[in-house]
Amino acid sequence: MLQSIADDLRASLPLDAMLPSETTAHHKMQQQSRPTVHVDGFLYDDEQVDQLCEEGTMSRSYCLTCGSCSTAALDFISHSFSVSELRFLFQNVLPDLSGRVLVDVGSRLGAVLYGGYVYSSASRLVGLELSSEFIRLQNETLQKYKLTDRVQVLHADVCTQDVLLQNADVVVMNNVFEYFMEPSEQVRAWRFIMQNLRKKGSLLVTVPSLQESLSALQEALQPGWVEELPVDYDVYLGRDADADTLREIHLYRVM
Ligand SMILES: C[S@@+](CC[C@H](N)C(=O)[O-])C[C@H]1O[C@@H](n2cnc3c(N)ncnc32)[C@H](O)[C@@H]1O
Repeated sequence: MLQSIADDLRASLPLDAMLPSETTAHHKMQQQSRPTVHVDGFLYDDEQVDQLCEEGTMSRSYCLTCGSCSTAALDFISHSFSVSELRFLFQNVLPDLSGRVLVDVGSRLGAVLYGGYVYSSASRLVGLELSSEFIRLQNETLQKYKLTDRVQVLHADVCTQDVLLQNADVVVMNNVFEYFMEPSEQVRAWRFIMQNLRKKGSLLVTVPSLQESLSALQEALQPGWVEELPVDYDVYLGRDADADTLREIHLYRVM
């Protein structure tokens, strides 16, 4: 089902799976110190990227001296979890989610919601997303694949969702803000989350670590808010899984 959803989404999006309206994200990618392209990990696995490179539709490298063979590797980033990361998240990082409510902050294409439907028993999976176009795309997918019994998406800024955060059992934040909001807005959003994700024992999954996200903003982690839980990264998830990417997934428990 996840492959079929990815096929549908690939057909409705441009190759870089980004919207013209994502001006902040486009701008931030251009500002990276090395040439960086977005290749969505949910839509394109390594084999598909290889095939597109062979066809000449995609490239893994850029020319250092135009017209010569002197090339360097492009940096790839993904704004979605890949299927192997989703399997790792739901089968190796999180506990049994029966009867629990999971909130994906910034649900974008909906990868976490579809992965959570397939790989977990969460009773409710709620996606929050700023972009109305991605909300429409997710809603079409939820209807087509009949996932609405457990999955719901809201067109909302996380900073308006205090009650949802207060009642969530699991909150997933996969690099939500870095490319999509200016630093001052990111600080405001993190403070809102630290204030409202307070239910004792609730779990928070972040990519990258809280320390990395907050220190880049020179913002302090509220003392006594969460404790980091160990994750076993030494599992084999097939050729497609990238060990370095999995190590970016961190798990915390609200104290
Ligand atoms: C990196 S994507 C995460 C995708 C998805 N959670 C996954 O793991 O596959 C981040 C998304 O968060 C959305 N976003 C950024 N700031 C947000 C906010 N304050 N409230 C809700 N969504 C937000 C962006 O529009 C973007 O689509």
